[in-house]
Amino acid sequence: MPIDIKQIVTERLGENYDLHERYINRTLVSVQRTIGFDKVYANARGAYLYDLDGLDYLDFLSGYSVFNIGRNHPAVKQALRDVLDMDLPNMVQMDCSLLSGVLAESLVKRMPAHLNSVFFCNSGAEAMEGAIKFARAATGRGGLVSLEGAFHGLSMGALSIMGNPHFQDGFGPYLEGCHRVPIGNLPAVESLLGTGGIAAVIIEPVQGKGVKYPGDNFFNEVQRLCRQHGALLISDEIQCGLGRTGKWFGFQHWNLEPDIITLAKSLSGGYVPVGAIVTRREIYQKTFSQLDRCVVHSSTFGRNNLAMACGLATLQVIEDEGLVENTARMGDLLVSRLNELKERHSVIKEIRGKGLILAIEFHEPRELALKLGWKALHKMEVNLFTQMVVTSLLSRHRILTQVAAHGLDTLKILPPLTIKEAEVDKFVTALDSVLKDCRKFPGPLWDLGANFFRHSLRKPAAVS
Ligand SMILES: Cc1ncc(COP(=O)(O)O)c(C=O)c1O
Repeated sequence: MPIDIKQIVTERLGENYDLHERYINRTLVSVQRTIGFDKVYANARGAYLYDLDGLDYLDFLSGYSVFNIGRNHPAVKQALRDVLDMDLPNMVQMDCSLLSGVLAESLVKRMPAHLNSVFFCNSGAEAMEGAIKFARAATGRGGLVSLEGAFHGLSMGALSIMGNPHFQDGFGPYLEGCHRVPIGNLPAVESLLGTGGIAAVIIEPVQGKGVKYPGDNFFNEVQRLCRQHGALLISDEIQCGLGRTGKWFGFQHWNLEPDIITLAKSLSGGYVPVGAIVTRREIYQKTFSQLDRCVVHSSTFGRNNLAMACGLATLQVIEDEGLVENTARMGDLLVSRLNELKERHSVIKEIRGKGLILAIEFHEPRELALKLGWKALHKMEVNLFTQMVVTSLLSRHRILTQVAAHGLDTLKILPPLTIKEAEVDKFVTALDSVLKDCRKFPGPLWDLGANFFRHSLRKPAAVS
């Protein structure tokens, strides 16, 4: 008898956390239970998740930017059904499949003219691994420069260029020749490039961890120096590409011309993982330089039809629904509404971001009661205040958000690019209400923060 997935879901929904505790990552289960994120979601559509009682939850996390077009989009579902219904030949390997060719064409059409060649893989980390290899093969050099705070994935190459020690501890040794410099430190970049041994400088135009980016022409100068010293510029667009920042790609905010870009996350339409490297033909050919090197870099599932169909449907939806323009508009609206909140809540330090990747950074408030609570929580753990806000947004207002990164007092939002004024209003009103509740110290909200600590959760917040 074929397996009946519908029956499994109907009969067993609710066992989720017990199953994970027993068989998968029980540490993550502990974190989710402690911070009140142990919800059982039964359905999802667009910008909303629904629990077993049919209650809606506004998803301002978007699966870490996987759901740019919203959840369970009908156009992607139809594309998947079409592929299944046609019984297409898939992953023959010693052929050239049609859909991967069409998706490559479709991506290239949306890129600057020089980015004309595509390699498909299955995840963001895998795209970064490939980008490192392409850059090394093209330049004949080994060195890599990345920026502090950057997150490029958790496989060994990607970890080697990670700008966040929290993820590196315990997994070394890493690739040789990797250097990290602070955002904005041009002399450091210049002196590394001056050694002549650097293959590429890798940037994330808007860093996912902490939502950070340079305010000036730092990236443009980095690009100029790369050209001068024969190094490549790689733009990791895995989180901030495909409309997220209010432009098709993050690098467009600085009018950059990266030599390689990487994509993943939302290209999947939220269904089938897909990663991509897009680069210049001359760079591509340096890896696949002769007939016996035609598969020196490859990935078995890289061009599978279901993933390609998801990619094609996603690009079409972004265009048909005007999501890049909507993102710029809704992003501007959110920033102005949140800046109004900042006037009323001294605990808000700064609102920053581009399009719909936004950070709300907190700092020690001026009001006495609030200041006492802030100090008490900070003595225990830096993230606790923000985690308390994130948990309250979920438990009291059914809005899913996240702490921006370990050790930061920053709340991050990544709504689907489909949101409208109603969702903006819902979020801003909810945040206003949570921050008003914070003024009651001592009070239930602050007890919540202390409670996290009592559960001896040393690093409770960012799990991305
Ligand atoms: C900017 C960036 N690069 C790379 C990655 C790694 O992607 P994946 O988790 O698909 O390996 C991520 C994931 O969060 C990311 O945000």
